[in-house]
Amino acid sequence: MQEQSIYLDRYQLLRLLGRGGMGEVWLARDLELEAEVALKFLVSSFDEKETEILRRETKQARKLSHPHILSVYDFHTQVDGVAAISMEYAPGGSLGNLVSRGVPVLEVSELSNWILQVCDALSYAHEECGLVHRDIKPHNIMLSGFESVKLADFGLSAQLAMSLDSESERVIGNRLTLHYASPQVVWNPYESHYLNDVYALGVTIFKLLTATYPFKDPRADFWSWDPDNLLSMSERRKENGFGCEPIPRRWNYAVAKCLAEDPSDRPASIREFKELLIGDSSERAAEISVPLPPSQREKTAKSGGLLSRLVVFVIAAAVTGLLVGILWGLFEIVNREEVASSVPRTEIVEP
Ligand SMILES: Nc1ncnc2c1ncn2[C@@H]1O[C@H](COP(=O)(O)OP(=O)(O)O)[C@@H](O)[C@H]1O
Ligand SMILES: [Mg+2]
Repeated sequence: MQEQSIYLDRYQLLRLLGRGGMGEVWLARDLELEAEVALKFLVSSFDEKETEILRRETKQARKLSHPHILSVYDFHTQVDGVAAISMEYAPGGSLGNLVSRGVPVLEVSELSNWILQVCDALSYAHEECGLVHRDIKPHNIMLSGFESVKLADFGLSAQLAMSLDSESERVIGNRLTLHYASPQVVWNPYESHYLNDVYALGVTIFKLLTATYPFKDPRADFWSWDPDNLLSMSERRKENGFGCEPIPRRWNYAVAKCLAEDPSDRPASIREFKELLIGDSSERAAEISVPLPPSQREKTAKSGGLLSRLVVFVIAAAVTGLLVGILWGLFEIVNREEVASSVPRTEIVEP
């Protein structure tokens, strides 16, 4: 692929955006619709059968319609040429690319909205469409404008591993990112279950908040993972010298639960995971009534005292003003009557 070359008489290649397991991704101008798109070219080593799987998956991905899922437009093939998938272009790049732009680690306050958006996208896919992503990782969470992210590559590799037989090892090695693969996927690449997405989301958050993976060598360390005894994200940050904002206990717990070896110990759904992160509505209501720490209580008491004293002063001033007004009115009336009685009466004499 070359800059400025034209693909399928329609797409002018503008810039290479990156390389992934399936091939190169280019920013292109759709000359027909006069719009920018991302074109993912599939490496030539994909055979007929694999290309057919990708065509089917593109069809499936096109059915997803959600504000936090990147839109897939079309699947293109060329006689004797490379196949490509056209999709929405995300100008902000991915959360994975932030590291190369000098942001080694994110804070919970920066990440939380984005993660909640990813949770909404995944809940929609799992519960309403019955689709598993299978490749959740920071590089597939795209920044698409102010405060908004979109999940990319939905289902694009979901069934590829399942349909391959003896070559499954190659698929795991080349196209799935091992650190994000749950123990079940490492054992069996055919495994496609939404609880693997829950696991991968846990690793994704861990990576973005600590700049490290929960397990340094997934194959070696998986089985020692015990959510109750593992280094929490807070401890890992300390170990790596990242200070700044503390990580809420809720987040440490929710992420550790995602990483459980046994899928039945993980949050039962993305919805449940989201509730662990932010608390359900009754817990949030309880949090509101939690007593304030002494320093804040003192401040509130002080400002409350000042306010009530001000109110008392205003009321007292108003009452005093009213009394003075009434007294003054009475004085005026009495005074007028006295003056009236002291004026000599003119006697009207009949002529
Ligand atoms: N739709 C897109 N818009 C903008 N950049 C993209 C898009 N899709 C992919 N990229 C970029 O191309 C790179 C390679 O993408 P991909 O082939 O999906 O591999 P991976 O997901 O493993 O990074 C990504 O890391 C990202 O920077
Ligand atoms: Mg990708």
